Amino acid sequence: MRRPTAEPTVEQLPGPNAREWVDFHRNAAAPSTSVYDFVWDITEDAVGPFCTDPDGNVLLDFTSHVASAPLGYNNPKLLDKLSTFDLVDPLKIAGQDFYLSTGGTPDDTALPGPAHLMNTLTEITEQYGFDTVFLSNSGAEAVENALKICYDHCETPKYGLTFEGAFHGRTLGALSLNRSKSVHRRSFPELSGIHDVPHSLEGVRTLREKLDHDSGHVPPEEVAFLILEPIQGEGGYTVPEPEFMREVNDLCETHDIPLIADEIQSGLGRTGELWAADHYEFEPDVITSAKALRVGATISTSELFPDETGRLSSTWGAGDVLSSILGTLTIEAIREHDLLEHATRAGNRLLSQLEEIQRTRPESVVDARGLGLMTAIEFESAERRDAVLEAALQRGLLTLGCGHRSLRLLPPLDVTDRELDIATDLLAAAIDETDPTAG
Ligand SMILES: Cc1ncc(COP(=O)(O)O)c(C=O)c1O
Repeated sequence: MRRPTAEPTVEQLPGPNAREWVDFHRNAAAPSTSVYDFVWDITEDAVGPFCTDPDGNVLLDFTSHVASAPLGYNNPKLLDKLSTFDLVDPLKIAGQDFYLSTGGTPDDTALPGPAHLMNTLTEITEQYGFDTVFLSNSGAEAVENALKICYDHCETPKYGLTFEGAFHGRTLGALSLNRSKSVHRRSFPELSGIHDVPHSLEGVRTLREKLDHDSGHVPPEEVAFLILEPIQGEGGYTVPEPEFMREVNDLCETHDIPLIADEIQSGLGRTGELWAADHYEFEPDVITSAKALRVGATISTSELFPDETGRLSSTWGAGDVLSSILGTLTIEAIREHDLLEHATRAGNRLLSQLEEIQRTRPESVVDARGLGLMTAIEFESAERRDAVLEAALQRGLLTLGCGHRSLRLLPPLDVTDRELDIATDLLAAAIDETDPTAG
């Protein structure tokens, strides 16, 4: 398969081999996980956003594995570098409990390990003054540890602040901050003292009132953190107004409340900047990262992190050595190949194509939005969104839902114009095919 000429081609989806793999997976998988009805065959051809399933169908993947594969499949920017490593054992190290050498000296080693990843993360958060990183295994753990350092730092930690539409992960602590899908959170025990407000200027005004020393009922010195996704992800790819972000920032500064930016979906170039926060007048005190980074990371300042030994730890923090290498090389590739600039240009093109789809189909598409390559279109109902998603899949375009009735498109950061054109043509055809008013 060659990227410049590859085309999505679907014969039958799911085909007989895919059905067998799905049955095999479901045989022992917890039934409540929600799994996409598509099978990636990792032994078959895949390049850029194109991948192959076990029946030979070729799909154009605009999910990037929910932002976890920002460089697409078999990207030479990663593979060429990986192939130079003589990695004896892709060890799963006890990352936070043991020091690790990758040969030679730290400044002169062929292989970037977890310590290189942590140092690189402080380099790319220099604008926020960050100098300290805790690596973990997932986004939810990155969030949990962000909460822990904020609770630890606050003398009287009683409250936390979150926004409607938020999604921060599925561990019990992270769940307490979620205000998107009820299925994630319903009836599970929660952290106490979490206040939520609308994700709007009105919401920030409400927060101001709550935190007001005279008339409010939430003493700011008892608020351990405010957490938000600079661009809400699972909640619907909501891009906030600059004024909203400025106001949130001001409020936290005024009351000295640590501000956590959850960049697990929006970070590492997805929006055309390394962090979505970089687009705004917004100065987080903590950033959480994962997905594209391949490991979880809580990034902040040494003042905020506890220094008591054993206060934070994780056996497999930083995952295996290979994950740390991939995380470091992904950041390197983004910087070396100007992928931020590319994602900005490609994102503008994709957004104008989506706006055109909306303009020509106003009965079906009620909104088109995005920043960089974090884009979505919204339909008049969840049923219609689901129908379009399935019709697009049958035409060879993989997409994901988000929010209540939106469909997200998040291609690899090096997506080409040709790939954008194929995707938006397929999407437009899927919308027309599922139009209930069409004769
Ligand atoms: C913004 C955000 N925070 C946290 C998480 C949780 O990450 P993980 O699924 O790796 O635990 C996600 C995952 O989708 C996310 O999008």
